[in-house]
Amino acid sequence: MTVHEIQEFLAPIRHEFPDSRSLILPALRFAQEERGWLPPETMAAVAEATGYSQAYVESVASFYDRFYTEPVGSRVISVCTTLSCMLRGSDELLAHIGDRLGTGGEGTTTDGRFTVQRAECLGACDRAPCLQIDSGDQLGPLTHDDADALLDVLRTQDVPSRYDR
Ligand code: FES
Repeated sequence: MTVHEIQEFLAPIRHEFPDSRSLILPALRFAQEERGWLPPETMAAVAEATGYSQAYVESVASFYDRFYTEPVGSRVISVCTTLSCMLRGSDELLAHIGDRLGTGGEGTTTDGRFTVQRAECLGACDRAPCLQIDSGDQLGPLTHDDADALLDVLRTQDVPSRYDR
C-alpha cells in the first residue's frame, strides 16, 4: 500500500472530516484491506498520507480491536473480557475456545484459520458473556457448549487466508 494509493482513497472523503486526525481511521481501515493487518511500512504510509507521525498512527491503531498490528487468522474471534462479560465467565470462555482451537488462550492457530483475542466492551453487555466473529454481530450469552457449536460451524466455512493477501 503506497502513500499515493491512500491519498487517492482519502481525496473524495477528506471534506467529511474537518478535523484531519479523523482521517486516520478510514485510512487505516483502507490500508488494512490489502494484507489483513498493518505492518510498520503500511503504518508509515498512513502517517505520511495523513500528515501525522508514525508513532501517533500506531497509537491510534493499537487502541482499536479491529486494527491488527500483527498477522491474524482468516477468522478473528474477539471475546469481550470487560466487566459485565468477565463477571459472567468470559475469561473461562476465552480459555475454553483457546483449548478447543489449540491456541491455549489468545493467539492464532498454526494453520492460520483462527485468531482468538480479547476485546473491550462490544456493546452487548446484556448478552454477557459475548464474542464477535470478525466484524459481525455480537453473539451471546454463550455457554461453553454454545462456543463449541459455533466453532463447529466456523470450521465448515471456507474463508480465504489473510496470509495469502
Ligand atoms: Fe462485554 Fe459490554 S462488557 S459487551
